[in-house]
Amino acid sequence: MYTQAIDTDPTSRNSPTSHASVAEDVFLARIAQDEKIEPQDWMPEAYRKTLVRQISQHAHSEVVGMLPEGGWITRAPSLRRKEILLAKVQDEGGHGLYLYSAAETLGVSREQLIDALHSGKAKYSSIFNYETKTWADIGTIGWLVDGAAIMNQVPLCRCSYGPYARAMIRICKEESFHQRQGFDIVRALCEGTPEQKAMAQESLNRWWWPTLMMFGPHDSDSTHTGQASAYGIKRISNDDLRQKFVDVTVAQAEFLGLSIPDPALRWNAERGHYDFGKIDWDEFWRVVNGQGPCNEARMHDRISAFEEGRWVRDAASAHAAKRAARAVARAGALEAA
Ligand SMILES: [Fe+2]
Ligand SMILES: [Fe+2]
Repeated sequence: MYTQAIDTDPTSRNSPTSHASVAEDVFLARIAQDEKIEPQDWMPEAYRKTLVRQISQHAHSEVVGMLPEGGWITRAPSLRRKEILLAKVQDEGGHGLYLYSAAETLGVSREQLIDALHSGKAKYSSIFNYETKTWADIGTIGWLVDGAAIMNQVPLCRCSYGPYARAMIRICKEESFHQRQGFDIVRALCEGTPEQKAMAQESLNRWWWPTLMMFGPHDSDSTHTGQASAYGIKRISNDDLRQKFVDVTVAQAEFLGLSIPDPALRWNAERGHYDFGKIDWDEFWRVVNGQGPCNEARMHDRISAFEEGRWVRDAASAHAAKRAARAVARAGALEAA
């Protein structure tokens, strides 16, 4: 594991005055020039904290996000759909792994991060607290939720912190596969029987607004946006990303013959964008603060999965320790010979 402790203390440099501010000026100049900040580089504490919060929240969202879809693997309607869904859910676990590893480069341990999730201190995306009631929901999640994740995450491939930016490049490639598999499920339902099409419409009706909430509060109410933008972590604001998502998705819904559940939705030629209705922020905050339809179930399932997997982690660690000890003994024997 890297930590930034290798070269983090600006007072250890031999500049005579105001070491921290000199280091901070150098740091900000590097950000302005679009240089990547790496784990061994000096960074302001606020930058490190912002990144730990954002990357770990992102990692938690990936692993909690496995739960609403994981329950549908055995119920997918064909072997092909099962295989695809299994691969998709497994990808999300992989995304969690890359992101926890990226967070660890900032000097926090995996245990600390997971403790924060399990104790309710750390947040994850509010969308995963909604129920997956029908097979159409699996399609809608891929189409809309992974679609919204791509909008949010593509700009992060250019974020200022190297390990996060590099993890995002691979994640975005996989998310784009997820989005297409979801769209394909919804398309198949829309081309099927009237009941199947109705199932797709009903699912879109339930997921549309929670998906728009995924982009977070309006820019005017977002506490973290300013700092994250100044540090080159966040490149596009919540409202701009949400608008981009609406503009792209309306055409996709039209193609499918589905209607978006928003009577206020209309093209605004002057702005060159769709206008859309008001988001229910009370619902958003209720779900973020633990009162969503599935918050309790998700945490219960995540903690049980963690506890039930403890013996596997213990066995893997014991095996790795044994192999390492054997390698040391072998090296010692070779030296003695
Ligand atoms: Fe993901
Ligand atoms: Fe995904």
